[in-house]
Amino acid sequence: TRIEWDLAQIERGGYPHFMLKEIFEQPTTVENTMRGRLILEEGFSKLGGLNIPKEELLAVDNIIITACGTSWHSALIGEMMIEELCRIPVEVEYASEFRYRNPIVTPRTLCIVISQSGETADTLAAMREAKRRGARTLGLVNVVGSTIAREDDGGIYLHAGPEIGVASTKAFTSQVVALALFTLKLARLRDMSVERGRELAQALAKLPEQIQSILDRAGEIEEVAEEFKRASNFLYLGRGYNFPAALEGALKLKEISYIHAEGYPAAEMKHGPIALIDEMMPVVCIAPHDSVFDKITSNIQEVKARKGKIIAITTRDEPSLAGKLDYEFRVPETVDLLTPILASIPLQLLAYYIAVKRGCNVDQPRNLAKSVTVE
Ligand code: G6P
Repeated sequence: TRIEWDLAQIERGGYPHFMLKEIFEQPTTVENTMRGRLILEEGFSKLGGLNIPKEELLAVDNIIITACGTSWHSALIGEMMIEELCRIPVEVEYASEFRYRNPIVTPRTLCIVISQSGETADTLAAMREAKRRGARTLGLVNVVGSTIAREDDGGIYLHAGPEIGVASTKAFTSQVVALALFTLKLARLRDMSVERGRELAQALAKLPEQIQSILDRAGEIEEVAEEFKRASNFLYLGRGYNFPAALEGALKLKEISYIHAEGYPAAEMKHGPIALIDEMMPVVCIAPHDSVFDKITSNIQEVKARKGKIIAITTRDEPSLAGKLDYEFRVPETVDLLTPILASIPLQLLAYYIAVKRGCNVDQPRNLAKSVTVE
């Protein structure tokens, strides 16, 4: 009825779908994840729910991060951040694999568990297994009071608000922000200088405004979507911090548009996927100006030489790429470890607009569930 329809509209805040609403909420949700936690002057973060005494945190020998789906992608970014800035070995495991493979866990292992819902059966079981083996557990959870949040030893709530769209968007960016806050804290407790801490804290503080500036140009992405909505395959390439962003971009597209998509570390492409490239293959290249930028530009040339269609996410003009990019979308610059946050926004929009143009049920894709509470 008319009234029911109006109510649904109100719930979606005037947006046609929850997913679009949630994508557009990200300046606020990312801000909420940082609220009261970021100390700019000291280049530090305060995480009240961590519940780990400083001495114990400093005594951690190794970290295992376990999760499923999109949360597993943010785990991969967390691994790189923690290893780079804290110099502690980190391993990322699919929760469904971790729980059945006799992992090496000691009382000096910290097990970080990432879950939007806090109810994913495999993730919960992996956390219980890590606990049983003596690890300390830390949950990065969005849903307050969920099972994982209740059973972990300490936690960092994402504070992203309810995520209704099955494809995770705002929870993902908040997870990466929470991981950066944790990394900042641990790195500063170890040997990161105040100056470097401030630099990272300032970069974090700038994110909401930078995300907004990307969202203001959503129309550009909608045009790219129009161009490629009929493709049957997509390849997503990234390196370093943006390899997980490539995986996440591909997952978003698969989930809601039913187009086959693969994410790959850009240089690994020559060991297989390059065989698939022809003029029918759109290749999304995530190429911000970071420490591996020169490397990805040569991968872009390899794709172009095989007539692939390049959709590039960049941050600056690059003469060597002139004429090689079929579409280019600029995102603002930030520190390397936060680049996947900004790169993922246009990829969420791309998946969204393609799915809408293909007439797909964006908020409730076939065969998928928001929270997977069975093994
Ligand atoms: C399901 C959802 C995904 C989500 C994954 C993990 O597959 O459809 O969007 O990433 O579960 O969920 P969690 O709630 O543990 O983050």
